[in-house]
Amino acid sequence: MYQNLNEELFSFIEKSPTSFHAVQTIESYLEKAGCEKLNEGSVWELKEGGTYFVTRNKSAVIAFHIPCKAFTGFHIAASHSDSPSLKIKENPEMTVEGQYVKLNVEKYGGMLCSPWFDRPLSVAGRVIVADNNKLETRLVDVKRDILMLPSLAIHMNRGVNDNGYKYNIQKDMLPLYRMNDSEMDFKTMIAGEAGVAPEQIIGSDLFLYNRMPGTAWGAENEFISAPRLDDLQCAFSSMKGFLSSRNERSVSVFCVMDNEEVGSGTKQGAASTFLYDTLRRLNYSMGRTEEEYWTAVASSFMVSGDNGHAVHPNYADMTDPTSRPYLNGGIVIKHSANQKYTTDAVSAAVMRRLCERADVPYQNFLNRSDMLGGSTLGNISNSKVSLNTVDIGLPQLAMHSPYETAGAKDMAYMVKVFEEFYRSCIRVSEDGHFEIL
Ligand code: CO
Repeated sequence: MYQNLNEELFSFIEKSPTSFHAVQTIESYLEKAGCEKLNEGSVWELKEGGTYFVTRNKSAVIAFHIPCKAFTGFHIAASHSDSPSLKIKENPEMTVEGQYVKLNVEKYGGMLCSPWFDRPLSVAGRVIVADNNKLETRLVDVKRDILMLPSLAIHMNRGVNDNGYKYNIQKDMLPLYRMNDSEMDFKTMIAGEAGVAPEQIIGSDLFLYNRMPGTAWGAENEFISAPRLDDLQCAFSSMKGFLSSRNERSVSVFCVMDNEEVGSGTKQGAASTFLYDTLRRLNYSMGRTEEEYWTAVASSFMVSGDNGHAVHPNYADMTDPTSRPYLNGGIVIKHSANQKYTTDAVSAAVMRRLCERADVPYQNFLNRSDMLGGSTLGNISNSKVSLNTVDIGLPQLAMHSPYETAGAKDMAYMVKVFEEFYRSCIRVSEDGHFEIL
């Protein structure tokens, strides 16, 4: 059964080469399920029993289901739509000795550089098309092998296997695009994909992506690999949970934010007011008071979903000595004393109970005490809407490579956890205790 789910994940990922496409893919799922699209620039008229969604910048999305006007809190799942990549710069074409044309790019997020070499790459993103006074956004996905970052041969870099290599993006990572005598310059090619004339394109956000589709592998197909597992696995599984489960007392909220890989500090990132604005408007549109909003927030719970690191077969010593998450061992609950992860005793206990109720195994992820580790969007989102939050994710290997690896069984576990989360009602009693109903 989990094989079908993994196949569906691969197709979800393939349709989602950038954050814009991820949100477009999610929109198509939401619309198919009958969710009504709202616009931030229009008046909202929401009804009891309604399910809605709203996007910002076409790269972040929040969907919610309102069971009744007298709801007691919000059950929020949050993940991110973006992944590390190389972004195409303005005026990207660079001619080399009158022969080759390569593209000028810069880094988006904290990528592993070496796995981008020697694999077919394509380009996707959005372009802004001018039509008189109208500026229209169009998504573009070239879907062909058009770029390559060829490695320097071992004969010209003899020490590379012994000494490692320090990548300079401006020098080492400019992909080859065409021979100079080719007519198909980059802007003309992109315009063709967008179905417009080159001079109509007056803005663009275009990124490279790995063309290799997802695959299950291993002696008994116990592993999966695909681009962008971080964080499309969490976006996909929380969406599946949101669409299949709900409860009668709390509002289910499903959010996917952009720009986590560059610090979340954009209008569509977790540090923005997007979640806050949406919850306030929802409360207002249902004819509820300000006081009712604050009481609902006090009785709310957020699950921040972003993948964690499994024990690596060749680098087992890089993992914490007593918390050892493995692929296929179940979801990971992420802890850090400096609160880069929001998990605390209370939210971890709530999540463990949810896992038990869903019959899903869970593991703990902590960084080694002598390693810094990454951060995620949960604690950043809490600076705008502060509520009880737990950080979870799936165990994976090769995080921030353009081709990442995870356990074949874990995806189904994560869907079950999100289903249980949306099905349950988590409440805080007057004396401060938690109840899961
Ligand atoms: Co992530």
